[in-house]
Amino acid sequence: MTAAPPPEPLATRIGTVGILGGTGDQGRGLALRLAAAGVPVVIGSRVADRAAQAAGEVSVAAAGLDPRATPVTGLGNLDCARRAGLVVVAVPWSGHAATLAPLAEALAGKVVVDCVNPLGFDAQGAFALDVPEGSAALQAASLLPGSTIVAAFHHVSSVLLNDVTEASFDSDVMVLGDDRAATDRVQDLAALIPGMRGVYAGRLRNSRQVEALTANLISTNRRYKAHAGVRITDV
Ligand SMILES: NC(=O)c1ccc[n+]([C@@H]2O[C@H](COP(=O)([O-])OP(=O)(O)OC[C@H]3O[C@@H](n4cnc5c(N)ncnc54)[C@H](OP(=O)(O)O)[C@@H]3O)[C@@H](O)[C@H]2O)c1
Repeated sequence: MTAAPPPEPLATRIGTVGILGGTGDQGRGLALRLAAAGVPVVIGSRVADRAAQAAGEVSVAAAGLDPRATPVTGLGNLDCARRAGLVVVAVPWSGHAATLAPLAEALAGKVVVDCVNPLGFDAQGAFALDVPEGSAALQAASLLPGSTIVAAFHHVSSVLLNDVTEASFDSDVMVLGDDRAATDRVQDLAALIPGMRGVYAGRLRNSRQVEALTANLISTNRRYKAHAGVRITDV
């Protein structure tokens, strides 16, 4: 009897991850950690040269974290959306709709992970903005009817993601969506980052309060000079 082939590593099963706006703090941090875990990552930007430069820098940092890291590629946002099988949206809320609308065709049939927090800031700190569709993730669902939207990574600090002296994260990621296979895949993605865990947290219609909770965490960070995340207990 021949032995069963070894299971495909999780990072390979996840496939290529694209990050729209991946030149920013959050996108770079996610790219760094995922590349260090062996996931092929494409950083997207409005300017392809900027993506290429960020990709080079992140590749070096990822190799420093783990010599088995995969090299990161940089492309314009459209080519990033075309190349990747799973795409993370990491642009500011002010650019969310304008970024996604022209990518509907390129993102059709793909899982799109939205980590965008629609927040405003005033003298009292951060506060949640009203979004006509209900949330950033619901806006993505309305702009990308052919894609499967998952909301996740809202509460993960980019400072910690980019801190190469932090080998592990004490943090859960709330994962929301209407498609079980897609939320399972994003939970698997989160689990590739050491110390991080993806926890299913409901349907997309409940993404508004998860995005808004970031305003509370920013207040916590300011008071305690911290980079607060969330832990879900008893799961
Ligand atoms: N920072 C965090 O700790 C954190 C944590 C959780 C979630 N998030 C969410 O992640 C998203 C990105 O955060 P960030 O701090 O990385 O933001 P950021 O650095 O301000 O922006 C990310 C990238 O988006 C692109 N961009 C900027 N303005 C844009 C616009 N008007 N339209 C399209 N693209 C634009 C830029 O890339 P190019 O110029 O190269 O195109 C920029 O490098 C936000 O929605 C935020 O709520 C952030």
